[in-house]
Amino acid sequence: MSAEDGSAPAAPFDLEAIRREFDELAARVPDRATWEALRVRFLGRKQGVVRSALEAISQVAPAHRKAYGAAVNRLKLHVEAEVERLEVALRAAAEAGSRRTLLDVTLPGRRPRVGSLHPVTVAARAIEGIFRELGYTVAEGPEVEDDFHNFEALNFPPDHPARDTQDTFFVEGGLLLRTHTSPVQIRTLLARKPPIRVICPGRVFRCDNDLRHSPMFHQIECLAVAEGITFSDLRGTLEAFVGRLFAGSGVRLRPSFFPFTEPSCEVDITCPFCRGNGCETCSGSGWMEILGSGMVDPRVLANCGLDPDVYSGFAFGMGVDRVAMIRYGVPNIRSLFENDERLLRQIKA
Ligand code: PHE
Repeated sequence: MSAEDGSAPAAPFDLEAIRREFDELAARVPDRATWEALRVRFLGRKQGVVRSALEAISQVAPAHRKAYGAAVNRLKLHVEAEVERLEVALRAAAEAGSRRTLLDVTLPGRRPRVGSLHPVTVAARAIEGIFRELGYTVAEGPEVEDDFHNFEALNFPPDHPARDTQDTFFVEGGLLLRTHTSPVQIRTLLARKPPIRVICPGRVFRCDNDLRHSPMFHQIECLAVAEGITFSDLRGTLEAFVGRLFAGSGVRLRPSFFPFTEPSCEVDITCPFCRGNGCETCSGSGWMEILGSGMVDPRVLANCGLDPDVYSGFAFGMGVDRVAMIRYGVPNIRSLFENDERLLRQIKA
């Protein structure tokens, strides 16, 4: 038999039938083994159907070889593309499956992270707790104040240099951000009749910013006004308070000046870190300044409509942030307000 005698077939393989069979099988490839069998059957190097069809080109009559070769090539490209597409699909399905098995239901659940109170809040509550035991109640006032309550009634005359020490932030309309909690003292004296025993906690603002100062900080002011209150009451209250807040610390009073108290004194406590022996934290002095205090100036009482010949009182005010810094050994006030959790978590309040 020779190609010339016309007995050679135009196509030794029914390429259409092969393609139909392949497509039917390719429509059902549920797993890797089926895919592998399909690939070997059609694309295998030795017995693969496509390869056999290609090799059979020698049996095709020369006149039909070109058309046959092109048809086999089309079949080959189609089969190759389908086989590759099926593999990609199988791999994606396998990955999704393995991701599903990563869920281990026997593992203990993830606990929600529990928050805790800010060190300044803890310090403020400790201070408030002590004063509640001493019979004080809490009074509050606005953070945006007027000149009268923040300065004038507290005996800061207009243009008095003491105003400069307050680094005031002014607000439009003649208002200001309170520079201390003492205006609450005024509001209380104006609103209530003695005997008065209050503490005034709150945020205060000063145009000041360095390692020890923040433009916003917290104060607690203490005010006691009644008939016959003396300097001994101030000293006794300070000792009771400081001894509780910094277990065992004593107080030292140094003369000072505030427009709203007379006499006035700065209060130092025995350094809680070295118990007064002198260390780095207290710069070797054995003492730490913690608050300002004094007997309410008679003019303040008069400004609030109280007769200074009948009533007297004492007041003192402290920075809560400073108390927190001393209690928890925080060297930089800003680290209290940046609220970096990594840092706050280290403060064992
Ligand atoms: N208000 C004062 C300040 O912020 C502190 C203080 C309060 C001093 C009460 C004496 C009496 O500087």
